[in-house]
Amino acid sequence: MAIQLNNVHFTYPEAPNDCVLNIDSWSVAAGEHVFVHGPSGGGKSTLLNLLSGILGAISGEVSILGERLDSMNARQRDRFRANHIGYIFQQFNLVPYLDAIDNIQLAHQFATKQPQSALSDEIKALLSTFHIPQADWQKPVRQLSIGQQQRIAIARAMINKPQLLIADEPTSSLDQNNRDNFMEQLMIMASEHRITLLLVSHDMALASYFGRIDALSEINVAGAHH
Ligand SMILES: Nc1ncnc2c1ncn2[C@@H]1O[C@H](COP(=O)(O)OP(=O)(O)OP(=O)(O)O)[C@@H](O)[C@H]1O
Ligand SMILES: [Mg+2]
Repeated sequence: MAIQLNNVHFTYPEAPNDCVLNIDSWSVAAGEHVFVHGPSGGGKSTLLNLLSGILGAISGEVSILGERLDSMNARQRDRFRANHIGYIFQQFNLVPYLDAIDNIQLAHQFATKQPQSALSDEIKALLSTFHIPQADWQKPVRQLSIGQQQRIAIARAMINKPQLLIADEPTSSLDQNNRDNFMEQLMIMASEHRITLLLVSHDMALASYFGRIDALSEINVAGAHH
């Protein structure tokens, strides 16, 4: 299994009595392409942060690619994420004063600890794949449009050819053209590199690309009460 959750509970420290996630059992097989949908505030981003080890569960088993995240500390989870998981954040999390190429290079360095090499060609190919004009490759990303930043965040998540790719509303800022292009490229890359893909969104228009569609309300018992 690429993802296996058992008896997982999560509450935010600010609201310890408000259970955001309560998941009995949920799993994703290696190579599966899963679309999870649910309303705003339902816990989609929280779930992805748990799966990628940004947040730690209060209790329960969180197994990712055969490793128990729940027995790692935050630092070990960070390393695991850098090495194995591509994450397209809802808020992108790009470094605003770095340009597109440096943002992507940084993600690569975190994973490999190698200095920059002939990698630039690969980065440029990715930026072209996601239709970032060459004139924008060396501007601080804060000077780019939100949709352009989203596409750079997507390219960054792909650079290490992760075994697991997690995407949080990755098309929310894209026009229809770029959205369709992104989804097509994503599916091609996922198949080519046998990437397990988990994408969350409230946009049901994206569901048609996926072999498996789960409602968060079916996964998360806590959500059923809201
Ligand atoms: N840092 C935080 N501290 C406390 N509560 C939080 C925090 N982040 C989210 N929450 C709460 O957890 C619940 C789930 O939030 P989450 O961001 O996971 O929802 P979501 O499904 O991703 O929503 P959206 O579709 O709007 O992105 C919400 O009730 C929210 O208020
Ligand atoms: Mg969210």
